[in-house]
Order: sequence, then structure tokens, then C-alpha cells
Amino acid sequence: MKREIKIYSPATVSNIGCGFDVMGFALDEPCEEIIMRTSAEPGIKIKKITGDNGEIPYDIEQNTATKALLSYIQFNPINFGLELEINKKMGLGSGLGSSAASAVSAVYGLNYLLGNPLHNDKLLLFALDGEKIASNAIHADNVAPCLYGGFILIRSYDPIDIIKLPIPPDLYCTVIHPQIEIKTSEARALLGNTVKLKDAITQWGNVGGLISGIYQNDYSLIGRSIKDKVAEPHRSKLIPGYDQIKEAAYESGAIGCNISGSGPAIFALSVSKETAEKVASAMEEACNQVNIENKIYVSKINKNGPLIVE
Ligand code: HSE
Repeated sequence: MKREIKIYSPATVSNIGCGFDVMGFALDEPCEEIIMRTSAEPGIKIKKITGDNGEIPYDIEQNTATKALLSYIQFNPINFGLELEINKKMGLGSGLGSSAASAVSAVYGLNYLLGNPLHNDKLLLFALDGEKIASNAIHADNVAPCLYGGFILIRSYDPIDIIKLPIPPDLYCTVIHPQIEIKTSEARALLGNTVKLKDAITQWGNVGGLISGIYQNDYSLIGRSIKDKVAEPHRSKLIPGYDQIKEAAYESGAIGCNISGSGPAIFALSVSKETAEKVASAMEEACNQVNIENKIYVSKINKNGPLIVE
């Protein structure tokens, strides 16, 4: 048995402003890529990693993709070996869920090779074991939308309860990725352990508003609800030009704009492709003003999660 597959898993925007650790959605682009080969020799080996500036470990206990695979195999042993080539397309510490996408690709790929014996709900738990290495914390708001596609609410972590939300049909997302690295673990450490009651009230009002807006295709309500009192005030300082980039997005027609995950990527939602492209140019120009190189993406909301090519 010798087989090779390529798995593409989508970038994700977690938090969506108000939903720290409990909301996220998937994008059509960019995607992470893993090539997975079966081998007669038992064990898991990482043959090659590209796009990581040499920063990602080859040690299978320390790598998010292989750690997720080890969890899968512990639950469901396999009688062949695996070789992996991990091609990081988003860079590291982007705020686009790159580590989650690698963990999801790995378990989704192995499950596919085995004829899909396990449900996504199980794969999610294995992928979370991998993701934990990258951020020193359990948060499913990248892994879950990456695996299921669309908009996700994590209603509870204990026990894990994932709610798939509808996708408002006209939404387009602009993402700007300033080419600096922010480590999720460090961006989490900035937040401390407490939130003021007044801020919590604002925050849960907005989470309810965002979910309600998503169900009703009420774009104005979605936009009004993309606000953040918990992470943005601390983390925006790590992103040069953040206020100007955000202002440029709103001025050119975005309905909502905030930090994607722990940053530095910034997302903006718009109600047409045309507006999302205008927003992209405005955000890019604002980012250029602070002399930070950037990559920009305009994408629909991804509906399907990972894609496998044989
Ligand atoms: N919810 C997580 C955080 C996402 O904001 O720390 C990290 O990608």
C-alpha cells in the first residue's frame, strides 16, 4: 500500500471581534498544505517543512500536525507508517489559524486514507491536542471552523459543544496580514485573567447580536456587533498602524473590522465582493503608510473545511 494525498485546510478568523475563544469562521484563502504518504515502515516521519524559516520542530511530539496524528493513532491504531511534508503558506504567528490548519489537515488526511471511519467531532479533539502545543492553551475557535467550514460557535468547552451557524450569503472577508509575527501564547499572556463586569456586559451583548445577525442575514447587526472589549484593547498595540488600517476599512465600506485571532492579521467583513476589494486597497494603503510589508486576501466564507487531492 503506497498512497499519497494532498490536504488543503483553510485559514480561519477566530474571535470575530466579540467572541474571544468561542467564535470563528473559515476563509476560502489562504490555505495550509500537507502532503501525506503511507509507508511500509511503521511510525510517523516529517520529511520536509517549507515556509517556516526553520522554526517548526521536526520532533513529532512537538509538532502540531504530528501531535494531532499521535492522538488519532492512540485512539485508532494503524498498521502502516506515515510520511509528511508540511508546506506553511501563511507564515507563522499570523492570526490566521495556521497551526490549527496543520493539525486539522493531518487528522483529516489520515481519516481519509482509512476510509473515514471517524466523525469530525472526534477529529476535532485530536486536532485540539495538536493545536495546544502552539498556543499553550485549549481554544477551538480556529480548529473548529477549519474542520467544519463556515461560522462556528463553541458554546461550551467542558464538555465541548460546537454549534454550526448559517453563512450569510453576501458576506466577503478582506484580510490583511502585516508581515510581522505575533505568538499566540504571548498575545494571550497580555490579557490577564479578569474582565470588568461593565466590559463583560458589552461583550456578551455583542456575541448575542452577532449570532442573531448571522441567523437573520442582518448585515447591519453583524457589523454593529463586531466590537471587542476583551482582547483588542491590549493586542492592537502590537500591530503597527492598527487604528489607521481599521479606520480605512470602515471608511471604504466594511461593516465590521477587528483583529483576526491573536493578530497581526486584521479582518474586515463587507457585503459585496466589490466593496471587499475596495476595503482591501484602503487597508493596504494604510498599512503601507507605516512601512510594513503585507499580504492581502479577499475571500468568501469557506463552507467545506479541508479539501483532499489524490
Ligand atoms: N482565541 C484565540 C486567541 C485565537 O485570541 O488567543 C488564537 O488564534
